[in-house]
Amino acid sequence: MLKKAKITAVSHWVPEKILTNKELEKMVDTNDEWILTRTGIRERHILEDGKGSSDMGVEAVKLLCDQRGIDPLEIDAIIVATVTPDMFFPNTGNLIQAKIGAVNAMSFDVMAACSGFVYALSIGTQYIRTGDYKKVVIVGTDKMSSIVDYTDRNTCILFGDAAGAVLIEPTEDESEAIIDFSLNSDGLGTEALHMYGGGSLYPATADTVAKKLHYIYQDGKTVFKMAVQKMADVSVNLLHKHNFTGDDLKLFVPHQANLRIVEAAVRRLKIDPEKAVINIGKYGNTTAATIPMALSEAYQDGRMKKGDLVLFGTFGGGYTWASALLRWAMN
Ligand code: COA
Repeated sequence: MLKKAKITAVSHWVPEKILTNKELEKMVDTNDEWILTRTGIRERHILEDGKGSSDMGVEAVKLLCDQRGIDPLEIDAIIVATVTPDMFFPNTGNLIQAKIGAVNAMSFDVMAACSGFVYALSIGTQYIRTGDYKKVVIVGTDKMSSIVDYTDRNTCILFGDAAGAVLIEPTEDESEAIIDFSLNSDGLGTEALHMYGGGSLYPATADTVAKKLHYIYQDGKTVFKMAVQKMADVSVNLLHKHNFTGDDLKLFVPHQANLRIVEAAVRRLKIDPEKAVINIGKYGNTTAATIPMALSEAYQDGRMKKGDLVLFGTFGGGYTWASALLRWAMN
């Protein structure tokens, strides 16, 4: 019989350095008021030069192991969601695996932009369900500052660097298990949100650098419209599929791309806004890290207890959009 998976630890890590809206005012033609009212972001954290996404992931996984009281040797698999791997290969999971000495773990990366963490969690959950693995670490880590053009006011105000992680393990108990996922893609979203440079189609050349192909390009308005619709749809539909309503939810943990996108999802879910975990003001959009970060902060703040119904919802580049419904397993 298939097993169930539960979350048994959650952690996050952010670099010390903060980049405020006021500081951005000195870098591009923008202002604190515009950024705050259009996005809800006040500041974001920036990782130092010479460090990559794996370094933030390492810190998050160390905290995870401490919280659960396990040795890295006990980890069976490390699945990393990121669009900013340290390098194309080895994958970021392998780099984290080596740095923490998790020599018994297999590891790989998943690239699904802002939906990456939920995609990776769904993959890890399958390994637990089949019984192949007993301790799977899911990491969302992105050094977005490495692909942001700090002369482009349309994008540079939005993103920050961070990592979050969860540990999943088997359980027989439905009242503490991950219930279901909804995963969706639409490759036609490529034009509105992408980074073309550095892959096999446009390998790095002086020309790709001159054309700024190694930075994120986003058509903000188009992506915004899709995000408002899809993040709400995917969240509401998964909840209703299992015959729950917003009243049954203890917490909604949304991807933090723009406060207005979260507010739209909250309205569609018909939940008290207090039930949504919102930390975009402090971190901006940290891509694959937003959901585990928000979950970790909510856990630290004592916002959920064992058995509570929790919903994740996200939308991102690709396009990709996803949700996850679960019963919280920790006290
Ligand atoms: N500071 C000041 N003005 C800015 C600005 C900035 N940082 N960035 C853009 N503007 C200007 C625009 O040039 C535009 O001026 P114009 O009317 O003279 O052309 C005006 O502000 C309005 O821009 P617009 O793009 O309509 O703003 P918006 O309300 O759509 O907000 C985003 C822009 C990027 C915040 C918003 O579109 C967004 O959040 N998009 C989705 C992001 C997302 O979800 N990504 C998901 C995956 S990562």
